Amino acid sequence: MYTLGFEGTAHTLGVGIVDDQGNVLSNIILTYPATEGIHPREAANHHAANMSDTISRALREADTGVDDIDVIAFSQGPGLGPALRTVATAARAMSISLGVPLVGVNHCIAHLEIGRLVTDAEDPVLLYASGGNTQVIAFSRGRYRVFGETLDIGLGNMLDKFGRAHGIPFPAGPAIEQKAKKGSKLIELPYSVKGMDVSFSGILTAALNSDEAMEDICFSLQETTFAMLTEVTERALAHTRKSEVLLGGGVVRNKRLRDMASTMARERGAETYVPDGGLCVDNGAMIAWTGYLMYQAGMEITVENSHIKPNHRTDDVEILWRN
Ligand code: ATP
Ligand code: FE2
Repeated sequence: MYTLGFEGTAHTLGVGIVDDQGNVLSNIILTYPATEGIHPREAANHHAANMSDTISRALREADTGVDDIDVIAFSQGPGLGPALRTVATAARAMSISLGVPLVGVNHCIAHLEIGRLVTDAEDPVLLYASGGNTQVIAFSRGRYRVFGETLDIGLGNMLDKFGRAHGIPFPAGPAIEQKAKKGSKLIELPYSVKGMDVSFSGILTAALNSDEAMEDICFSLQETTFAMLTEVTERALAHTRKSEVLLGGGVVRNKRLRDMASTMARERGAETYVPDGGLCVDNGAMIAWTGYLMYQAGMEITVENSHIKPNHRTDDVEILWRN
C-alpha cells in the first residue's frame, strides 16, 4: 500500500511516497530560491509550475505507477495561504482522479512523526526550529501539545532577516553559522524566555543596532537563541518526564544548536535524535507517512472538508493513531 504526500507550507515543494511498512520510496524536494525572503504568491507559482514534474519524479524514483497510489496526503497547515492552496488543489485533483482517500496533515506533527519513524525515538520531545516555525512539542494526554513556542517570528526567519540587512543571501543560517565559528565575544542580547515561550524580535533589533564585529554578533545571536531553545526543551523534558529529544526543521542543521541540545539531554540521561537531511527539513515523505498513519486511524477527509488551515494549531489535532 502506497501513500503519496504533498508538502507546500512555505517555499519548499515536496512530493514523497511511502509504503505501509514505513519505507520512504522517494522524497523529491524543490525549494523556491527566495533571495529576498518568501513572497507567498511567488512561492505558490513556483509550486504550481513544478508540480507535475515533481510528481512524475517522485513516482519514477519510487518505481511506482500512479495507479499504485492508495492514499493522497497533503500539508493542510500551518503555512502561507497561496502555497497551501496550490498543493491542496493538486492533492484534491489527484485524489478525485484516482478515486483514492484524501488526508490533511498538520505540518509540525509530520516533523515529529517522521522522526519517530526513521530514528529510534519513540516518544520524544520535539525541538522544531525552521524558518517560519519554532515550537517545542510533545505527546501528552492524547494530543501533541505545544510546551513552548515563539511569540513572534520563527528563529530561521530572524536569522534570515539579520542576514538580509547585512547582504548575506537567503537562507542566511549557514553563513551565520560559519561567521559565528570565528567569533568569541558574547555580546549581551535580550535573552527572552517568557514562561515556556520565546521571542526573537528584540534580539534581532539589538543585533541590528550593534556595532561590534560581525563574527561576534553572529556568535552571540547563536549562543543566546540556542540557549533559550535548549532551556525550554529541558523544561519540557522535566515536565513530561520523557527521555528523548528529537530535533527537526532547517535550523537544526546548525551544529552548535545540535551540540547544545544534545549536551543538555545527555546531562539529564536523555538521548538526542535527528532525522537525516531530507527528512529533517520540509519534505513530502513526512506528510505521506503521517497521512498514512491518519488514514489507518480513519482520519480521511472529503474534498468538501479539505480547506487549507494557514493557522493550523498542533494541539487541534486529535491523535487517533497513538495510544
Ligand atoms: P517551515 O515551513 O517549516 O517554517 P522553512 O520553509 O523555513 O520551514 P526549513 O528548510 O525547515 O524551511 O528551514 C529553513 C531555515 O533554516 C532558514 O531560515 C535557514 O536560514 C535556516 N537554516 C538552514 N541551515 C541553517 C544553519 N546551518 N544554521 C542556522 N539556520 C539554518
Ligand atoms: Fe517545517
